[in-house]
Amino acid sequence: MKKVLTIAGSDCSGGAGIQADLKTFTAHKVYGMSIITALTAQNTTGVYGIFNTPAEFVKQQMDCVFSDIFPDAVKIGMVSVEKTIDTIVDMLNKYSPKNIVIDPVMISTSGSLLLDKNAVNCLVKKLFPFANIITPNIPEAEELSNIKILSSDDMIKAGQIIHNQIKTAVLIKGGHLENTADDMLIYESNIYWFKAEKINNPNTHGTGCTLSSAIASNLANGYNIYTSVKLAKEYVTKAIKSNLNLGKGNGPLNHCIF
Ligand SMILES: Nc1ncnc2c1ncn2[C@@H]1O[C@H](COP(=O)(O)OP(=O)(O)OP(=O)(O)O)[C@@H](O)[C@H]1O
Ligand SMILES: [Mg+2]
Repeated sequence: MKKVLTIAGSDCSGGAGIQADLKTFTAHKVYGMSIITALTAQNTTGVYGIFNTPAEFVKQQMDCVFSDIFPDAVKIGMVSVEKTIDTIVDMLNKYSPKNIVIDPVMISTSGSLLLDKNAVNCLVKKLFPFANIITPNIPEAEELSNIKILSSDDMIKAGQIIHNQIKTAVLIKGGHLENTADDMLIYESNIYWFKAEKINNPNTHGTGCTLSSAIASNLANGYNIYTSVKLAKEYVTKAIKSNLNLGKGNGPLNHCIF
């Protein structure tokens, strides 16, 4: 069995973060492990509290995982504290895992920046170089490229700017577009589109976490970047379409689709 590690925040309501990642891993028949960078108090209606794990304890968790059950792929999600980013960078240097997917969780659903500018800089300059693929959504791609994205041409432009900076595969997710949910991948300088209809379902809590974890699972299972994204997109589309409707706000996906 392949082993996949997520380094991310906990969502006590189970729809996003670590909880979504572990469910996604199980659905992909890989062994899941988790390093929790923060506890959040949240549910389908919003995020009400964040309690960051001390960086030293993130380090201790990473030493425990990497010295024992070495992962075949690593997904990195919410890390908002510079010291924790530095710690993760040190640990990645120490252990050199392969197949690293970074979901740069930078902007909240309501549009505000979750990290200060210094932490964004740290993420881009120090952590991104380890990634085999990064998966910004549209607001995050706007922040990283410094251009406004209003069309598919803009997605390509932004993707190229980011790709030129960090030289790794970039998947810009189209979940925030008006009429479609088309995702665009730049991989080894080629452009690929993964087109999907926009599903009329407000229950999309945790789509980004789920997609990046599915990509990490597929990489662990030996698929290349292109196929890993293609299969992950199919998985997340099915999980949204399944129409699970839980909670009073934007509910979670159904991860139990095999
Ligand atoms: N209504 C929808 N219909 C179909 N696909 C969707 C829909 N919403 C999101 N997606 C897909 O879900 C995946 C995640 O994209 P999205 O842009 O929602 O990421 P995100 O904003 O990072 O998510 P999160 O809010 O979990 O952080 C992408 O493949 C996107 O195309
Ligand atoms: Mg996201």
